[in-house]
Amino acid sequence: MSDTPKEPFAGHKKLEKNITLLAAGTFITVAIGGIVEIAPLFWIDNTIEKVEGMRPYTPLELAGRDIYIREGCYVCHSQMIRPFRDEVERYGHYSLAAESMYDHPFQWGSKRTGPDLARVGGRYSDEWHVQHLTNPQAVVPESVMPQYGFLAEADLEVHDPAANLAALRAVGVPYTERDLEMAMNDLRAQGDPDADAEDLAERYPKAQLRDFDGDPGRVTEMDALVAYLQMLGTLVDVNSAAAQEELAEEDGR
Ligand code: HEC
Repeated sequence: MSDTPKEPFAGHKKLEKNITLLAAGTFITVAIGGIVEIAPLFWIDNTIEKVEGMRPYTPLELAGRDIYIREGCYVCHSQMIRPFRDEVERYGHYSLAAESMYDHPFQWGSKRTGPDLARVGGRYSDEWHVQHLTNPQAVVPESVMPQYGFLAEADLEVHDPAANLAALRAVGVPYTERDLEMAMNDLRAQGDPDADAEDLAERYPKAQLRDFDGDPGRVTEMDALVAYLQMLGTLVDVNSAAAQEELAEEDGR
């Protein structure tokens, strides 16, 4: 023991009293944390496990999705079922990362004024959707959801569907040349029972081809929105063996 006790944190005192030194020290510390989190992402091939059944949206579904975004449905509805018992019992199997891999931007949402819609596809009939969207209060009297009847009056106008697909392809959605070539035709054909849908169903497995809005004579914004709602959560068979395998892998990471 010496007579003059040594200041235990002399170095730290200097650091705390010098703002430049403290800022530099803080930056270095945070940078190390950032590098540790980010750097590994450069060496792994992808962050999402592929799941069987996922495919890009058809042009009509994509148009419906654009209407969903335009009308702000995401303000009241989420599309992300969390792995909690109450959610899984109400909405179905929790959402897999791969199920939104072709969503740009994703529609997970952050608020549920209405129910989650991630697996709403096939839960109701087309007629139900049209009636509900036209006048939600006719179906659920206390509903605060706005009325969207005007969508059934509006002809679907997509200026250049191929350009939409091309833009998505630029950010990694695997549309083929043929998809782009056929985009305008596909857009019309999916919602029109009389149209020639050629190889649409082959290129987009599980695509639902029919008139959605009860007005087979024309393709409206209502057709597009209902086509989109009816496919949500229907592509991946989450209970199939293959999906289970993927899940096990995902859980095991
Ligand atoms: C102001 C909030 C609000 C907005 C905006 C809104 N909704 Fe809703 N939505 C609700 C509420 C509340 C319910 C539950 C009561 C009902 O069925 O009407 C609901 C229910 C639904 C349901 C039934 C879900 C189920 O599982 O029963 C669908 C489908 C739906 N909304 C679609 C849409 C679409 C598509 C849009 C945009 C065009 C939209 N909603 C905009 C609040 C909203």
